[in-house]
Amino acid sequence: MRKIIIDTDPGIDDAAAIAIAMFSRELDVQLITTVAGNVSLDKTTRNALRLMSFWGADVPVAAGADRPLVGPVYDAAEAHGESGMEGFDFEEITVKPLKLHAVEAMRRVLLQSDEKITLVPIGPLTNIALLFSLYPEVKEKVEEIVLMGGAFTRGNITPLAEFNIFADPEAADMVFRSGLPIVMCGLELARSALITGEMVAKIRDLNPTGQMVYSLFEHYRGGNMQSGQRMYDSTAVCYLLAPELYTVQECYVGVEVASPLTRGTTVCDLEGFWNKQPNVKVCTAIDPQGFAGLFLRSLAGAQGVPENPTAATWLHQEK
Ligand code: RIB
Ligand code: CA
Repeated sequence: MRKIIIDTDPGIDDAAAIAIAMFSRELDVQLITTVAGNVSLDKTTRNALRLMSFWGADVPVAAGADRPLVGPVYDAAEAHGESGMEGFDFEEITVKPLKLHAVEAMRRVLLQSDEKITLVPIGPLTNIALLFSLYPEVKEKVEEIVLMGGAFTRGNITPLAEFNIFADPEAADMVFRSGLPIVMCGLELARSALITGEMVAKIRDLNPTGQMVYSLFEHYRGGNMQSGQRMYDSTAVCYLLAPELYTVQECYVGVEVASPLTRGTTVCDLEGFWNKQPNVKVCTAIDPQGFAGLFLRSLAGAQGVPENPTAATWLHQEK
């Protein structure tokens, strides 16, 4: 099993991605860290705890940054609802977040692990940038960073910028300059691999997770039930499970932080104009049928309690 840490801003599409990761037999989720993004940190953290409580899962949750490094706070409540996960009536939360800050929790898990860990950021990159800035020594324990963010064509929050990058461009710039192997699952993937209401209805009656995801879907504004919803964050998790479904091109990617017109844009030099050392594997395409099949099979398999055998439950005792 590949050890991963998910950094997230749940978020309806985050919820589906977390479900796929949690129940996968190939991924061993060590820790979930939350960040302000789709909605405020208190809400994204509450939503992560709701999911863990819903599954009776023992993967620890640690709250991180409640704002970007430099710029103003943006949110995407219009797509996810005021709570960030509108549409499903979650039961009482039965698990507590760690006392540790997300960055401290990530540091301890990485340094304690006997093998490298893959970071899977599916929200703004504030926590990841803080981690590398405060504790650069952890980089040698990072296998790779497989993130949902960016675009090489057009944006979804400004003409060119994607939300996760736009929400904290300085953090994204730091992460893209980290020197670590990065796989960028940008907007183009979810735009082509749409998941329709009809598809998700197939899993609605299969298990409680299918019912939960379907209910959230009905309220998600990342598309619509007829033409299909954009499951942005699941494209990052599914890369870990089936990279053969993706077309990937290594190139140099820079993050614009200064221009008022293009702030938050991931400038992907796919043609190599600048002759710069490639720093990112950009996913330029995905097999839509293959992704939809994997997405649905993964959620259909979300039965019972997720097993993440080496989840960092010891963090609950850490001060
Ligand atoms: O632009 C899409 C990204 O922004 C996804 O991660 C979604 O959850 C939001 O955070
Ligand atoms: Ca997200």
